[in-house]
Amino acid sequence: MDKEITFYQDIKPLFREKDRNCMYFSFDLYNYEAVYDKADEIYKRLTSENEGQMPPSGAGGKWNQEKIDKFKKWMETGKKKGLPPEREAFYKLLNNESFPEFLPTAKKMAYEYLDKAKSLIENPPSELGRYGKLLKHFEFTQDAFNKRLQHIYDYVKEEVDKYEPANDPIYNSRKDVIESIRQWAPFNQTDGAWLRYAVKLGPTDEITSLLSEILQDELGNGKVEHNHSTLYTTLLASCGIHLPEVYQKAYAEDPRFLDSAFSIPALSLCISQFSDLFFPEILGFTLLIEWTVLEVAPNIKLFKYYGLNPHFYEMHVAIDNASSGHGANAKRSIELYLDHVRQNGGDDAVQEHWRRIWIGFASLWSAGTLARDFEEMLYQKRIGRYEFPSHIMIYDHALSHNIVNIGKSQLGKPDLRQRMIKMIAHKAPYASRNHNDRKFGDKFINELFNNPEGFLDALVESSYVVKGDPKNSPILSRLTTWDGPMYKVFTEEELNLWNE
Ligand SMILES: [Fe+2]
Ligand SMILES: [Fe+2]
Repeated sequence: MDKEITFYQDIKPLFREKDRNCMYFSFDLYNYEAVYDKADEIYKRLTSENEGQMPPSGAGGKWNQEKIDKFKKWMETGKKKGLPPEREAFYKLLNNESFPEFLPTAKKMAYEYLDKAKSLIENPPSELGRYGKLLKHFEFTQDAFNKRLQHIYDYVKEEVDKYEPANDPIYNSRKDVIESIRQWAPFNQTDGAWLRYAVKLGPTDEITSLLSEILQDELGNGKVEHNHSTLYTTLLASCGIHLPEVYQKAYAEDPRFLDSAFSIPALSLCISQFSDLFFPEILGFTLLIEWTVLEVAPNIKLFKYYGLNPHFYEMHVAIDNASSGHGANAKRSIELYLDHVRQNGGDDAVQEHWRRIWIGFASLWSAGTLARDFEEMLYQKRIGRYEFPSHIMIYDHALSHNIVNIGKSQLGKPDLRQRMIKMIAHKAPYASRNHNDRKFGDKFINELFNNPEGFLDALVESSYVVKGDPKNSPILSRLTTWDGPMYKVFTEEELNLWNE
């Protein structure tokens, strides 16, 4: 079978920066929707010999036949979108052994992110207000460094103290907050990614130890329930959000995410992929994440206000603290690194490496547009112009139901009920077509799959289950055995879950 032709993988790379600029007055050649709409016109110009030829003769002239055929084939095969670059980077860098050919692209993306951050620290945009000034580049001295970090800390603290969920201009409802929990999943479910290759094997030094301590904490120090990504997955589950596994393509393709939900994680994965090359930038990125952790404190207030479990963020405020936690580790690792640079290259070298560290610090602020896109999404939803396609709402039943509030002690390991709900949601797309007119009580099973929580409740009350007695419950004793209608519908792991 021929390889599928998609916009992001095949068509967009055909347009050069110069082609884009040339057409920008009318539409954006790098924008899928725009090229989708204008495809006929573009094709006409690509094949034209006259005036409106594209690209014009002064800019390289007509494409070769191979390129033109590719564009035509793309049109004929449904003008497929493909994975936008940051989603692609997320998927391919989490599975980097399978995609070695992607690495040059990842490096290029890393440089692009860092270039944007470089402009940011040179000329902070006015919309960042006071924070922008705090991101501005400065010459490194120990004293200036201490002072700047103190100012940043004080500024963030002030903002947190002022914050009132009731007056939040963006979040008006619990649904809004839950939607933001989803949009931050690609970042939080890969928590620690930027350090994944910064920690080296072999005889170590203090810098590596400090970074390694942070990374180990992110990974949970050998405890499943302490792993930050797992904690976030549990938070998602408690909101009724059941996503594919982060390593799966389906995760990066999930239409419920905004494209920009992948920007910061893609930055983090791109720089970590080349940890030797971008080591100073990674030190800066670590400092930003850990030192400014109080930025997440408003989430704690917001979650409490809407009855959501704030543990993920409370834990971060504690573990990342600036006096002895990750914030302190990050700061100290930079000081040690610059000491080392000074011994080998003097003060000029220090300033040069420092600039790179500070670029890394600012890079998160210039990566993507999630905050803005998210705000726009809420606005579009509010005015009724935007809704998720109905077939994907199946996993989002809890948005309109009571959220399962779970205690801290259960966080990390989803409780049995949640694991059952997740399994039901996972089976739903197919299973909801397979149960014909069978019912639990007076409800059709096929329809109950739209609401996995309700499904579970109805199942428990049905004749298929004998409470506390899995052996004698028809679901296990009859239906899923060798001669039952649901034989092999469940994996062994799922059957164990039923038994629990
Ligand atoms: Fe973390
Ligand atoms: Fe941390």
